[in-house]
Formats: sequence, C-alpha cells, structure tokens
Amino acid sequence: MCGIVGYTGNHEAAPILLEGLKKLEYRGYDSAGIAVMNGNAISLNKVSGRISNLCEKTDDGKATPGHAGIGHTRWATHGAPTVVNAHPHMSNDGKFAIVHNGIIENYLLLRDELQQKGYHFNSQTDTEVVVHLIDMYYNGNLKDTVIKVASILQGSYALGVVCADDPETVVAAKKSSPLLIGVGNGENYFASDVTALVPYTRDIIYLDDGEFAEITREKVVVFDSTGKDISKEINHVNWDIQAAEKGGYEHFMLKEIMEQPNAVNATMTTRLKDGDIVWDDPGLDALDLSSFNKIVITACGSAYYAGCAGRYAFEQLCRIPVQVELASELRYNDPIIDEHTLLIVLSQSGETADTIAAMRECMSRGASALSIVNVVGSTIAKIADYTIYTWAGPEIAVATTKGYTTQLTVLYLLALWMGKKLGKLDDERFNLLLESLKTLPDSIQEALDMNPMIPELAKKYHQAKAVFFIGRNTDYAVALEGALKMKEISYIHAESYAAGELKHGTIALIDDHQPVVALCCNAGLQEKTISNIVEVKARGAEVLAVTCKGSEEIVSVADDIIYVPQTETVFSAAAEIIPLQLLAYYVAKENGCDIDKPKNLAKSVTVE
Ligand code: AGP
Repeated sequence: MCGIVGYTGNHEAAPILLEGLKKLEYRGYDSAGIAVMNGNAISLNKVSGRISNLCEKTDDGKATPGHAGIGHTRWATHGAPTVVNAHPHMSNDGKFAIVHNGIIENYLLLRDELQQKGYHFNSQTDTEVVVHLIDMYYNGNLKDTVIKVASILQGSYALGVVCADDPETVVAAKKSSPLLIGVGNGENYFASDVTALVPYTRDIIYLDDGEFAEITREKVVVFDSTGKDISKEINHVNWDIQAAEKGGYEHFMLKEIMEQPNAVNATMTTRLKDGDIVWDDPGLDALDLSSFNKIVITACGSAYYAGCAGRYAFEQLCRIPVQVELASELRYNDPIIDEHTLLIVLSQSGETADTIAAMRECMSRGASALSIVNVVGSTIAKIADYTIYTWAGPEIAVATTKGYTTQLTVLYLLALWMGKKLGKLDDERFNLLLESLKTLPDSIQEALDMNPMIPELAKKYHQAKAVFFIGRNTDYAVALEGALKMKEISYIHAESYAAGELKHGTIALIDDHQPVVALCCNAGLQEKTISNIVEVKARGAEVLAVTCKGSEEIVSVADDIIYVPQTETVFSAAAEIIPLQLLAYYVAKENGCDIDKPKNLAKSVTVE
C-alpha cells in the first residue's frame, strides 16, 4: 500500500521522482505528490488521482526545479483520497516534508498531544503526526531527530524525510514496510521497490527493520537506532528493465499472462538436477521432514487459492494432513500449532501485512516457516526459516497471474520432493510425476495457444450481472481463483462453489441465462461435475465448460467449451487457470475497466 521514492544528486530531482512513482503506481494510485528542495525552501505539489495528474501539474517535473526530493503514491487508509490527505506532508512552518508507507497505530494519542502543544493538522492521515513530531524534536540534526521520533511511533513505516536546513540530504527509516536504497554515482536514491530504481542503478541496499539511512549525493550511511553506523552489503540486481515495461502489450496483465510458460520454467529448472529435485535454496535439503505431523499453508487472496490447489498435491503425494488458512483469520485464531507443524507461507510481494502477522504468530508457537516468495529480500523472505523464490520476475498488474502459477509450481515441486523423502512415493511413481511436472511450461503454453476464441466468448458474457464458477476438488480450487480474477478486474459479481454444494442452497440463484463456468478437468470427478452441469442447465443456466480434449459427454451438455491440455490431476490447476485469466482479462477489456489498476485495490497490501 503506497509507494515512496527519494532522490539526491546532480540531476533535476522531480522528473526522477515522477518516473519512480510511475513504476510504483501499482502499489496505490488514488493520489500522489512530490516535495523538491529548492535552495532552502521546499516546493510541494500534490494531486488526487493518478501520477499522470501530477506530471501534468508539474509539467513533467520541469516546473519544480531542485536536486533532491521525495515522492509518494497513495492507497488511502486514514482519510479520503484528497489533495490534503496526499503525501508529502509538511510541518506548519514548511521546514520539513515527509512521505510514509505504513500505518502509525498510536497516531490518535500523538495527535492529541501535538494539538495541545499548538500544532495545526491539515489532513486526516495518521502520517501527519510524524512531521509535527520531527518539527517538535528537531535539534539541528535531522538524523538524530528521525531516530528519536521513530522510537515514539507504533506501527509500520517506511519514511522519507527532507529538511529545508539541509537541501541535499534525505533521511529514510524502515520498520515493517519495504525500503531499499539505490546506490549511484554522484547521486543516490530510495524506493519501496527495486522496479523504481533499476532504470538508474542496480546496486541496492536492502534496509532491515529498525535501520535508518542518511542519503546525500556522495554517500549513503546506514545506522541503527542508537545512531551507530552499520555496514551493509550492496546487492547487484540483474532485473531486466524491460521486465518492468509493457513490451508492446496493451496491459501488464496480458503481458504477465503470456510470460507464464517462461516464469514457470525459470522457477522449475534451477531445481531439477539429474532426474531429481534439488533445492538451491539455503537449508532446505537439511529439513527434517519426519518431525512434522501436519502442514499449515497460509496466505491471502490468490496466494491463498494457490495454497488451496497445492493442498491436494501434499495430501496425495505425502499423505500428511494439510490445513489451508487465510492469514487474516489465522493470526487471530489461537491456532493449534507447535514445533511439529511445517508452516508454508505464500506471497508474491513478501510484504502482505496479514501474512506476516500470521507467520509471526505461528513461528512464536514453534512452527518452522518455509516461505514461497517472489520479491527477493522482502520481509516474509527474511523472517522465514527457509525461503524458496518463485522466479516470476516483477509482477506489475494488480491481479496476479504469473505470481499464482509460479507459486503452484513450487508447491508441486515441494510436494513431490517431500513425498519421495517421506517414503510415500516409490521411484517409479516419483519419476513418472516428475516427468509430468516438467511438461508444465509446455502445457501452459498450449493452454494459451488453444483458445483464440476467448475474446469472442468475453463478448458473450461481459454484460452478465454475476458469474458462477463451479468445480470439485482441484477444479474447485481453480474455481476460487477464476472467480477472484473475474471480480477484481471486471467488477462483475463472481462466486465459486464446490459443485456438490449447489443443491444445498446456491442452485436457488440459477435461472435463465445465468452464466456458469464449470471446471471439469479432474478426470476422477468428471462424471459428478457433468451431473451438476445438467442440473444447472435444467434451470436455464448458460454453461461454459473448461475441460480437457476427449471428454465427449461435456460437448453435448455445455453451451461453450474451453479446452486445456491434459495434465496429471494433482498438477492440473496451473494450466486450467490460464483460460480463466484470459476470460477475466477480455471481459474487463470489453467493459472498459482499468485492468492493471482496478478500483479500490493495490498490489501490495501492507496494512491490516
Ligand atoms: C490477486 O490477484 C490479488 N491482487 C491479491 O489477492 C493478492 O494475491 C493478495 O493480496 C496476496 O498478495 P501477496 O501474494 O503479495 O501476499
């Protein structure tokens, strides 16, 4: 939620800040602002709405001269997405400006105290207390003042602070929200995400919680809460700039859908060696699997749905009980978890607040945490005992696609590896399943290629008031994710149901022309799902079936059919989701929706 950037150097700051904000806009996009040091004054520009409004207001930054500054793109939590609530926030005398990503939990108390001392508040945000505290505690040394103020704050923050007394310095602080420093030559940067930095530098310092940085054009000094300098490693990132560009596609989402064969391949191949699964991820090979009596998978949104699909693989291949829990629920459930629990945490961003909280709760009860994360160096990756990265590359569209399929890939690899290690799969079955898993990138490519009529189907369904997604077992897991894709980008009400549950209530909603997407790829349960298709057809539903070639019976009952390649049932979700991603995409496109940035959402949900 929210993206922040900072710059100090030889170039004009505003255009660099604006470019950085454009890269971070996926994190929040309801208002934006920049503060640029102009001599000993701070010039502030804020807008409601998108970064494009800010570019227009500042003539692409040309109207705001200066060589250092900070910027922010917002996903509103405290206070409406208005200009006054947009960041940066300034002290009453205009001497300090700050940007903040996170939530200050004790802001009400602090605001009362500050108001009593005569500070005037312009906004409804939690953030504004921070700038007034800085003003109150300022002793001529910005670095010391930020340390002092940070010690008073409860909650999470990535902060960027500038002070008119020192127009070339930017101070940053991190606690539980992402913050990276970009190290350049005669210029330095900070940002919430590496995508904002790679156009300028690939030398990155990942700040840890409780760390601060004093950034000038010549150097970056990282220090702890006692003010002591800390020596930090500079990491060289290899991310291709083009990976964070649209590359000729109309939307990031479509580009990312098309990237899935490569992303899944990249995630898998480094872990396949000599006919076996070998982890190149630290510590994993030494994991004592016999000490676990259950697996708990936790995540939010699509990552949770990947967990729902992955559960079948663990249960079938490892014969170990699996619970899949929404992180936002698990954190408050007083979970029955101990040192015999293997906790698998899924997150594309590695920064989802509920997932982090659930993870900490389970780890405090003794669970071993294995995270499956896409963003290198993210909070979840750092907290976990073990981390397996999904090598999907940057995912920019708010609706995840390659994040989800690469998470599935790691879950499948893990289940297969564990099944063998636990002695639940003999060599023959293991080899057979591994061979099948290796074909996943090709199956996904096939699923992309074999459905050129999806844009036409979208024209048929785009005016639906609601769409139901039904399926059983692995098909049900895909229905969950398919429905989420449809609702989050097309704003059409979409619900997923276990097909066998229809007659326990939901079938009452079915009447003439109600679109029902029937997932029917699980060979063992196909007959059962076909019965459910017949039941909804009898009540007037329009059925779009997703199935594998060869199931003739479906041809006679469904109105439309989307085919996907036949894969091993436990691994079927990865190819089966592809047409549903495309369907959601083209329906949203028909409806003129803002596909990459759906309303009310943000890519990285760093607040509860
Ligand atoms: C999916 O399309 C969503 N944008 C959302 O459900 C997402 O999967 C969820 O917020 C979890 O994010 P994470 O993987 O970064 O933790």
